[in-house]
Amino acid sequence: MKELIVKDKRAKRRISYGYLWVYSNEVKDLKDFEEGEIGVLTDEKGEFLATAYINPHSLICARILSRKKVNPNIQFFENKLRKIVEYKKNIVDLNNSRIVFAEGDELPGFILDFYGGKVLSAQFNTKGAENLSEAFLKAVEIVIGKYPVVIKNHSIFREKENLEIEVKAKGDVPEEVEIEENGIKMVVPVLKGQKTGYYFDQRDNKKKFSEFAKGEVLDLFSYIGGFGLHAAKNAKKVTFVDSSETAIEYCKKNMKLNNFDNGEFYRLDAFKAIKIFKENKRQFDLISVDPPAFTKSRKTLDRAIKGYENLNREAFSLLKKDGIVFTMSCSRLVDIQTFDRIIEKAVVSSGVKLRIIGRLYQAKDHTVLPFMKETEYLKGLILMRVR
Ligand SMILES: C[S@@+](CC[C@H](N)C(=O)[O-])C[C@H]1O[C@@H](n2cnc3c(N)ncnc32)[C@H](O)[C@@H]1O
Repeated sequence: MKELIVKDKRAKRRISYGYLWVYSNEVKDLKDFEEGEIGVLTDEKGEFLATAYINPHSLICARILSRKKVNPNIQFFENKLRKIVEYKKNIVDLNNSRIVFAEGDELPGFILDFYGGKVLSAQFNTKGAENLSEAFLKAVEIVIGKYPVVIKNHSIFREKENLEIEVKAKGDVPEEVEIEENGIKMVVPVLKGQKTGYYFDQRDNKKKFSEFAKGEVLDLFSYIGGFGLHAAKNAKKVTFVDSSETAIEYCKKNMKLNNFDNGEFYRLDAFKAIKIFKENKRQFDLISVDPPAFTKSRKTLDRAIKGYENLNREAFSLLKKDGIVFTMSCSRLVDIQTFDRIIEKAVVSSGVKLRIIGRLYQAKDHTVLPFMKETEYLKGLILMRVR
């Protein structure tokens, strides 16, 4: 394996803490490396630091696989996966979970979700992870078992690494899989759906949402209906809004599956839907606002912040007196402090009297490395309208 010298003192210190990324301005001589090649990171004296995969064309030029000298083969992934399963099985039902959360589980670029204990869904988001995908999937078969796997290589991160956007099936992958989440049944479109098929990261927040269910509930950016379904049992009516036709089709399917007949469905842009509700003077007792990431790049961060602000200001105006809103952002670049400021501004400009009554976070299987805040991406607040 070729060596890559890390010249930056702070980068070396970060590696010693367990941080997994090295940036291209922190190393010497990247150009000899192929995209995705495995290399050994050393300091300037030649002391070993870590094993990583390298991409000379990426700003994050090295992603660490281990702070030991390793060969990332099937055995390596098998050991890693066994460790992950060992700690995750204590905190979630592995059959409906994110088994591998990339950097959060110290496997940069690798995602693995398990749907209903029946279908696995994987993503390889970097060239390095793509090169190692076969060894990874063989190890998955050994540790988790032989299941059909859908490879959902359609994330925007792949574009940044010049990787093809594609969805492939290994084995007999069905169109949809039934899962259970907090006692709610959901049919997930594993092939046609967004991300790996579903948003497990909101599991705990959806459970909390169900605790506030009453009267008229609005699930804005509903996808296949997770938030709304959690509130349907105790609500008079649940209104689902999403711009995707597949998403709305599955909201209907999932309401039926749970024998709920109090749903109302809008395949519509959320801003347009809000405008219609305002014109019709409709207000809600409980609202979920869970938009897609408005930015994945620093260049468009300011515009995204404005977008979140406008969206929340408008959503707040739809709250009844004593109403509750769950508002979230899954944009990694919008950190908790920035999100708090966005909400502060939106509250002021909405003119609605609101109180913060809780915080929201990514579900437990989306583990966060304390020394790598990039693994923390989902944040939110619960606010209540007061008189
Ligand atoms: C983060 S996902 C929502 C996940 C969902 N709340 C859950 O927890 O399962 C964002 C959703 O917003 C939808 N979407 C994107 N742009 C939209 C827009 N302008 N108006 C309405 N929905 C939109 C996407 O189709 C996607 O389903």
